[in-house]
Amino acid sequence: MSQSFEQRRGQKSVDEWASDVSLILDGNTNEGIRASAPGRVEFIGNHTDYNGGWVLGATIDRRVEVVLQRRSDRQIRLQSEAAVPPVEVPLGSVERQSGEWAWANYILGMVEVLQGEGMTIESGFDLRVGSTLPVGAGLSSSAALELASGAALSEAYGGEFLRRDLVRMAQRAENEFVGVPCGLLDQAVVALGGADRLVRLDARSEATAAVPFPPETGIWIFRTHQAHALSESGYQERHDEARAVRERLRELLGNEEAEYLVDVSPSQLEEVKRELSKTLYRRARHVVTEHRRTQRVVQLLKAGRRAAAGRLLFASHESSRVNYENSTEALDFVVDRLAEQEGVLGARLTGAGFGGAAMAWTRAGYGEEQAHEVAGAYADRFGMELETLACRPAPGLYVWT
Ligand code: GLA
Repeated sequence: MSQSFEQRRGQKSVDEWASDVSLILDGNTNEGIRASAPGRVEFIGNHTDYNGGWVLGATIDRRVEVVLQRRSDRQIRLQSEAAVPPVEVPLGSVERQSGEWAWANYILGMVEVLQGEGMTIESGFDLRVGSTLPVGAGLSSSAALELASGAALSEAYGGEFLRRDLVRMAQRAENEFVGVPCGLLDQAVVALGGADRLVRLDARSEATAAVPFPPETGIWIFRTHQAHALSESGYQERHDEARAVRERLRELLGNEEAEYLVDVSPSQLEEVKRELSKTLYRRARHVVTEHRRTQRVVQLLKAGRRAAAGRLLFASHESSRVNYENSTEALDFVVDRLAEQEGVLGARLTGAGFGGAAMAWTRAGYGEEQAHEVAGAYADRFGMELETLACRPAPGLYVWT
């Protein structure tokens, strides 16, 4: 048997992690290759990744798990607990699925990208998917499914990939096969997160670093009734606007070296404000300030200055609301209620926005009672349920061998 994925990476051994990682699917590990990947929250760094900026994220203890068994024929059979019937595709003609089969694209995308990188998938396979991670909540169930299946495939067919390679390949699967122009945040955090840390990504260099997760604090997720739909939503529009304003700023500032929007400083942006449309100014304002807020939060966390870091989480939400216009009335309502509560250090929308979830970073004493207070106010206001999830950072991508 080849060395395990974990051993190759020099990460914690299987035994050290086994107790931390829940087994979601029935059946024992001898029946196939089992891999698991968590969801994530974006702690701060909203829409900075595809603009070359900093992002800080954490894994959460809700996961996707896959079990892969090789077949003797050339059929791919994908089965999800959440969707019947299974998706069946011949290995030689992997095509993008639509409608109720669209969930399979995250796995099929990995099949295509792994083969494109030179890995030979010499037989068909069965792959079962189970999950405790809500879908459509902006918690990166897609990145978790890409990475869990990519790692299982790599283990099954002898791909000698580094964890970091899988991160990039998962992003490519999403960009090229699924068709969402996402940055690297979700995949990097899902793969590199851990129970004790936040993951800091510098999207320009793709360098990552662990920032200790402040002890005796927690994360709560508040899932609104509006599912975010990344590919059809304003995500693509924001992506295009960010590119347009970067081009315009390069011209206006005569700065050809501004490779990314974050290379423009807030004061440079103010100098040319009048030359920009209101919308493009606001988009740029969000990105250049959010990048710097994220850098500041990293410094503040390292210095133990939690209250100051928390205030920047609120400032991030405000900038999303006013400048990037990717918040919703429901998300604003939740963040406003959280801002009034004892024990909330900071709160903001998390991920792409346009629906989905808000997160709160809380002190140890914050609990069910306070979370239910927010949900109660939400039900009164919108007549809908607000799902609340208490989370803690959790092990990242993991493979049993
Ligand atoms: C989604 C994308 C990420 C990132 C965030 C917004 O989660 O997948 O790459 O752009 O939105 O920060």
